[in-house]
Amino acid sequence: MPQASVIVVGNEKGGAGKSTIAIHTITALLHGGASVAVLDLDLRQQSTGRFFANRRAWLDANGQEAPMPLVYPTGALAKFAEAEAVARFEDAFHEASGEVDFVLIDTPGSDTAMSRIAHGKADLIVTPMNDSFVDFDMLGVVDPVTLDLTRHSLYSETVWNARKARAVAERKTIDWVVLRNRLAPTEARNRKRLDERVEALSRKVGFRVGPGLRDRVIYRELFPFGLTVADLSPTIRPVAMSLQHVAARQELRALMTALGLSGFGEGDGALMAAQ
Ligand SMILES: Nc1ncnc2c1ncn2[C@@H]1O[C@H](COP(=O)(O)OP(=O)(O)O)[C@@H](O)[C@H]1O
Ligand SMILES: [Mg+2]
Repeated sequence: MPQASVIVVGNEKGGAGKSTIAIHTITALLHGGASVAVLDLDLRQQSTGRFFANRRAWLDANGQEAPMPLVYPTGALAKFAEAEAVARFEDAFHEASGEVDFVLIDTPGSDTAMSRIAHGKADLIVTPMNDSFVDFDMLGVVDPVTLDLTRHSLYSETVWNARKARAVAERKTIDWVVLRNRLAPTEARNRKRLDERVEALSRKVGFRVGPGLRDRVIYRELFPFGLTVADLSPTIRPVAMSLQHVAARQELRALMTALGLSGFGEGDGALMAAQ
C-alpha cells in the first residue's frame, strides 16, 4: 500500500499560527496537484475543519471550483473517552495514509495523548511561533539575566520523544522545521535577539529554521470563504487584489520550498494582468 507523507503542524502554544500554516500548506499542496487528507486534532476549535467546511459552502454557493482535500470529521472524536478517540484517530489515519499523497495533521495548543501519537507519525513537523519570547519559551528556556539559551523546553521535549519513538519503531527520522509567524516590519531589535536564540536552539535540539510569514491581513481575511492566497486566480478573487497578495503568495512559495514541498504554480502574471 503506498504510504502518504505525514506533515504534523504543532506547537503546544495556542495562537502560534498552526491552523494558519496548516490551511495555507494544504491549499498550496492541492494547487501543486497533490492529494491531501486532513485530520484536525484541535477537537474543540476545529479551525482547519471549519475552514474546509467554509470552502465547500463558498464554492457551491458561487459555482466555483477549487481542489478539496479529504477532510476527516475529527470534531466528532470529542465525545469519546480518550482511549476510544485515539483508536478512532488511528483507524482514520491508517485509512488516509493509504489513499493520498499527504496526510496533514493540525494539532491543539496543548499536550494531548492524540497529539503526541500524531507527532510520532510525522515525517515532517512544522512549528510556527510568534516573534516573541513568550512563544520561544515553549521551545527553549533563556536565562532571565543574560538571555542566553540555557536548555530546551516542553515542546522540544515532545518532538524529542516522538523522534526517539520513531527511530526505535521504524528506524525513520523526523524532519523538524521551526518558522517565525506574524513577523512585523518593526521590532528589529527584539527579532535579532530571538533569531540568535532560535539559531542556538536549532543546533542544540536539531531543527531547521524556515522562512517566516509576515503578519498580513490576507492570511486571515479569506478564512470565512475557505480560501487562501494559494487559491487566488483570475476567476477566484473574493477580495480586491493587491500587491500585498502577490507578496504573500511569494512568501508562501518560499515556505513550501523550505519545507521541501512542491507548491502551487509559479508566477503571478495572469493574476496581475486580471487586476
Ligand atoms: N501570518 C499571519 N498574519 C496575520 N494573521 C495571522 C497570521 N498567522 C496567524 N494569524 C492569526 O492569528 C490567530 C491565531 O492563529 P491560528 O492559526 O489560529 O493559531 P493556532 O492554530 O496555533 O492556535 C488567528 O486569528 C489567525 O488568523
Ligand atoms: Mg489551531
